[in-house]
Amino acid sequence: MTILVTGGTGYIGTHTVIELLEAGQEVVIVDNLINSSIEALHRVESISGKSVSFYQGDVLNKAFLQKVFTDHDIQSVIHFAGLKAVGESVVQPLRYYENNVTGTLVLCEVMAENGVKNLVFSSSATVYGDPASLPITEAFPTAATNPYGQSKLMVEHILKDLHQADPSWNIARLRYFNPVGAHPSGRIGEDPNDIPNNLMPFIAQVAVGKRETLSIFGDDYNTHDGTGVRDYIHVVDLAIGHLRALDRLSTNPGIVTYNLGTGQGYSVIDMVKAFEKASGKTINYQIVDRRPGDIAACYADTQKAHNELNWRATHGIDEMASSSWHWQSSNPNGYSD
Ligand code: NAD
Ligand code: WQD
Repeated sequence: MTILVTGGTGYIGTHTVIELLEAGQEVVIVDNLINSSIEALHRVESISGKSVSFYQGDVLNKAFLQKVFTDHDIQSVIHFAGLKAVGESVVQPLRYYENNVTGTLVLCEVMAENGVKNLVFSSSATVYGDPASLPITEAFPTAATNPYGQSKLMVEHILKDLHQADPSWNIARLRYFNPVGAHPSGRIGEDPNDIPNNLMPFIAQVAVGKRETLSIFGDDYNTHDGTGVRDYIHVVDLAIGHLRALDRLSTNPGIVTYNLGTGQGYSVIDMVKAFEKASGKTINYQIVDRRPGDIAACYADTQKAHNELNWRATHGIDEMASSSWHWQSSNPNGYSD
């Protein structure tokens, strides 16, 4: 029995594949390498000492996916493949909807045709929009503010309808908060193609000397130091959450939705300080205007995942910063080193 991981050479995918392999699962990866490198796969194999079947191709390509299902006895799918840059999604909405929504439709069609009905889907805390209060429970209203978030919300709805039409589907919709950090080996981690959009990879690139100054987007929010507060979650904790979700689907069939976060909010300044402590470097920063679309604060209520998945994040902010620094300092140019 095999688990298909779409987007398995990406940031969260690689960390999840390692956990799956360590748990003794057979893994097949499908990835078109649009935002990842084949070197990531080599490192996953070398860290785990196991080999992984890899298919380079697009989830939009039905015939290609069909071959993967013919070649392997797939039991479940973890679907990471997607485009994730919020700003880019505003400029290229059709590309984002096609990739993230149509890509999931094609995948589900092929799964159904092959009688595979266990699916874990990567959703995002972005589906909560600007929450009315904190912490955010899974019961909060959803509202997307950009095409990326809208694509995640659309897929969540599609999966709900799919389960309603055919209750033999088992579906976990996992809403990630802000994934950061890297594998303890320092050999895999987040490797943005261009200028990082997200805070942690940007800080890491300043620390390693690739960028001069971090721009902090606003210090006049209603938070403890005026900078934005988020629920940063270590990528290894997040990866393990996917294994727990698969366990849950096998024992309690149905459709479920979980927040995967720590429940703890940290500000931009908190993250800068943690990174300075972990790296021994000074992070130069300047305060600039707020980034359009940003919210003041966001963190999860994690009780449901704790109760039903028996899962809780165990890595704290210091481990997030130190593992991120280990990866960045050992691979200043990411996988191209
Ligand atoms: P990532 O870009 O590192 O990984 C996504 C992978 O999917 C990449 O390897 C990319 O090459 C591949 N891919 C994209 N479109 C594809 C397609 N059509 N066919 C085949 N492969 C394709 O991103 P990540 O951070 O690992 O995110 C994984 C998933 O989690 C994404 O769906 C993302 O939207 C979601 N998510 C990410 C975050 C975050 O902050 N990293 C937060 C919430 C949700
Ligand atoms: C975190 C904080 C910024 C960069 C995004 C997506 C979300 C999800 C995770 C996929 C905020 C501040 C950032 C910088 C800064 N992705 N910041 N300077 O915006 O919470 O979430 O990634 O699903 O959908 O929207 O994450 O890392 O971009 O920002 O001051 O150079 O850091 O203002 O307060 P965000 P982020």
